[in-house]
Amino acid sequence: MKQKNIILCGFMGSGKTTVGRRLAPLAKMQFIDLDDYIAEQQGKTVSAIFAEQGEEAFRRMETEAAKALSNRTGLVIAAGGGTLLRAENVRIFRKNGSIVLLDTPLSILQERLRNDTFRPLLQRPDRKQFIADLYRRRMPAYCMAADLIVEGGYPAEKVAAQILDRVRKG
Ligand code: S3P
Repeated sequence: MKQKNIILCGFMGSGKTTVGRRLAPLAKMQFIDLDDYIAEQQGKTVSAIFAEQGEEAFRRMETEAAKALSNRTGLVIAAGGGTLLRAENVRIFRKNGSIVLLDTPLSILQERLRNDTFRPLLQRPDRKQFIADLYRRRMPAYCMAADLIVEGGYPAEKVAAQILDRVRKG
């Protein structure tokens, strides 16, 4: 039987990559981080893509990557924080997978993202306020995209076990 993909959705720092790496072996599936996949395809980092080609170009690459990966099965995919904000990407991933939102409290996100130097959107002096505003704007769209909402902010293995349990129960 072909295994539906599991797509992890949520804000930057919500734990998509860390939890995905734990979840994949538990579920006997393959882990793919969407940012890493795009960076590999393009031969440059996400920061370089944003700087050289702009955010819109990166968003188009996300949709292309979503299409390519949705032709495969048995994947745990850590989406980027902006991926599931696009209705088109939600449709693409839904065809063949369950979208799971990691609902991680804003205070934990702020702590995790405080010293981040990799995420292009966060390299600004008003980072804390920017994160708070973006979080409030994005949360409703994440909730709309999600088939399942799981509490993040706990140790990754606990969150991964919770996801597997809930996905299996359908
Ligand atoms: C983004 C989140 C990043 C990455 C890019 C844009 C966003 O992924 O795709 O920097 O718009 O929230 P992570 O959520 O894995 O940090």
